[in-house]
Amino acid sequence: MSTGRIAFLGDINGAPGRMVLEQQLPTLRERYGPLRIVANAENARNGSGLTPDLYETFRKFGIDAMTLGDHVYRDARIVPILEDPTKPIGRPANLSARAQGKRIVRIPASEGFARDLYVFTLLGRVLMPSILANDPFACADEMLAAIPERNPLVLVEAHMEATSEKGALARYLDGRVAAVLGTHTHVPTADARVLRGGTAFITDVGMTGPHDSVIGRKAEQVLRHFTSSMHVPFEMGSGGEALQGAVVEVSLDTGLAVSIERIDIPADYSRAPFRTLHSR
Ligand SMILES: [Fe+2]
Ligand SMILES: [Fe+2]
Repeated sequence: MSTGRIAFLGDINGAPGRMVLEQQLPTLRERYGPLRIVANAENARNGSGLTPDLYETFRKFGIDAMTLGDHVYRDARIVPILEDPTKPIGRPANLSARAQGKRIVRIPASEGFARDLYVFTLLGRVLMPSILANDPFACADEMLAAIPERNPLVLVEAHMEATSEKGALARYLDGRVAAVLGTHTHVPTADARVLRGGTAFITDVGMTGPHDSVIGRKAEQVLRHFTSSMHVPFEMGSGGEALQGAVVEVSLDTGLAVSIERIDIPADYSRAPFRTLHSR
C-alpha cells in the first residue's frame, strides 16, 4: 500500500505565529516528512484576517494550501485571491451562496503523492454568533457529491467551537473522507485517532502562535474584560510560541487514513527571529 503524509497546521496567529512557523517548518519537515502542508491562516494578520502579502509569504514558505474560518473577510484585500481559481486558498464552504471566494481547493497530484487532495472548511453553528453559516452536514454532502473522482482524497476542516459538533461531523463523514480536523478554539485536544470507517479525527489541532496568552490575545486585556464587564480591545499576545497541528498518513489507494499524530513544536528562543525579542 502506498501512503503519504499530510500536515495540517492550526491557525497561524499574528507575528508570533508567523515567526514560529518560519523557524520550525524545517523541523516539521525533518521529523514527519509531509508531502502536503495545509494551514489555517485566518488569524495571520495581527490575530484577525489574512492579507495578500501574508498569503504570498506562506506560499513561499512552502504551504501548499490555506484555509480560513470565521475571520475570513476581516481583511477584504484577500477577496480577489479567494476568487482566483489558481490560488490554493478557500473560504468556508457553508456560507451564503453570495459569499465571495472558492469553497474548495484542489492540490494536484505530483511525483511521490499520486493523488489530488481536496480541502474544504465547514463552520460550526453552535456558539459562533459572529458569522452566519449554513448546515455543515448538508454542505459536506453537497461538496463531496460535486467532486468528480470516485474515491477522492479529502481533508475536511471543522472550524467549530463546540466539541460535540466536531465529533458529530467526524462520525457523519467517517469512511467518506481521509480526515476531519478541528480548529477555531486554538486549544489542542488529546483525542487524535482513526475512526472505525478510516477517517482520522481530532477535535482541535491547536494554534501556531503564542500560547503564553489567552487563545492568542494578551492575557491582561482579556482578564480586564472578564473582570470589569467593559469592552477592552484585545492585542496580540506573545511568548510560549509553538507550531501546532496534526500529521495524517493516508493511503493513496483508498484515500482513507492510516494514522494521525498531533504536532506540537515549541519555538527555539536561542535562535532568530526570537533571540532578538525575548531575553530568556
Ligand atoms: Fe482562529
Ligand atoms: Fe476561528
